[in-house]
Amino acid sequence: MTASTALRALRGRLLWFVDDPEIAGEAAHRYVEDGLLVIRNGLVEAAGAARDLLPALPADAEIVDHRPHLIMPGFIDAHIHIPQTQVIASYGAQLLEWLNKYTFVEEQKLSRQGHAEKLSRFFLDELVANGTTTAAVYCSVHPQSAEAFFTESQRRNTRMIAGKVMMDRNAPDALTDTAESGYRDSKALIARWHGNGRQLYAITPRFAITSTPEQLTAAGRLAGEHPDCHVQTHIDENRAEIALARELYPEAADYADIYRRYGVLGPKSLMGHCIHMTANEWRAFAETGAVAVFCPTSNLFLGSGLFDWGEARASGVRVAVATDIGGGTSYSMLRTMAEAYKVLQLQGQTLGAFAALHAITRGNAVALSLDHLIGTFEPGREADVVVLDTGATRAMAHRLETARDLAEELFVLVTLGDERNVAATYVMGKRAAQPSTPPLRA
Ligand code: GUN
Ligand code: ZN
Repeated sequence: MTASTALRALRGRLLWFVDDPEIAGEAAHRYVEDGLLVIRNGLVEAAGAARDLLPALPADAEIVDHRPHLIMPGFIDAHIHIPQTQVIASYGAQLLEWLNKYTFVEEQKLSRQGHAEKLSRFFLDELVANGTTTAAVYCSVHPQSAEAFFTESQRRNTRMIAGKVMMDRNAPDALTDTAESGYRDSKALIARWHGNGRQLYAITPRFAITSTPEQLTAAGRLAGEHPDCHVQTHIDENRAEIALARELYPEAADYADIYRRYGVLGPKSLMGHCIHMTANEWRAFAETGAVAVFCPTSNLFLGSGLFDWGEARASGVRVAVATDIGGGTSYSMLRTMAEAYKVLQLQGQTLGAFAALHAITRGNAVALSLDHLIGTFEPGREADVVVLDTGATRAMAHRLETARDLAEELFVLVTLGDERNVAATYVMGKRAAQPSTPPLRA
């Protein structure tokens, strides 16, 4: 954007949330049929009716007409693994076998010169193509994987949360750090990247099984020293995993108690999966403010189980939603919510279209404690935006012929939508290039 176009306005059907539809109902969303999103220097200046805002725009403001498309805050993915972009769609195993057979094999490749850089470029292209503008990202154990990722994200000015995985046991030697080196390398990455531009650091002990008590102590120490950093890990995903974690930490009352004892369960802790939770564990989450991260495509693909969103809500626990690539099978947050709907259906629960779209925008921003920065179009927020064509596929356009209202149109979008519906993505008010499909390999 040049100085003369520091002001840009996107015209289309604006939709954003100011509250949780499960609590506030219709009052939770704002929808403006002929809307204008006014962006100055990358931040939202105003969002409202075009007829009200157009007359006040200076003559040199750039207006991008996206009518009749929907304009929403960029999607947020709360849990995704960059080393697993070539693990996605690996056949036939559940969690522990899948980790050993596929994941730990691919993750070792990130020690190779240039590999983390290649994956980072692909990964950020893919996220943008899917309208995802923020993610909480697991890098590999190698500090240079986080370095490469942050460097690429900084170049694109995307708001990303990421961390080098800490793991000092139960993994191949080539993939382990030590309690001491994991602490030191994470600390150096925090100093270099946390709050550098739009980059944020997540302290990332992979899970209790791959960390010794000494390493969880180090992770807890880091979390205490850097309370503004996120913590991300996995919990209660798979029965065999739970049994092994309990065996490795016999003194803990349950899986959540392992993390709580070591100081890694807190309001910025993003706890992946949370499928087989006990009432005590939900209580520990509520007491500490920890966030449960629901990864529906992964939970189905790895046969892990069904996340109980109703129980999380009843327990007063914040829920985030995520793809969990490469246990997960789609980069699309729309596809993710379509699978979330089915997971809830199997438990007699439902998920309306407004609630689903809230979850992947403002809901995830709230769960990540970032709602003061992203996830809505309130003035001053960073202008990360996705433009959606709800009729982008033949099947969707055909189905929409019978949609009677906005709720029905949005439900079609959430149920059938994917990256084909993303007409444009903006990062801090600047349009991101949509990557082209690569040619098939010979
Ligand atoms: N638990 C520990 N590591 C992982 C991982 O990479 N993926 C999933 N789905 N679960 C995990
Ligand atoms: Zn994961």
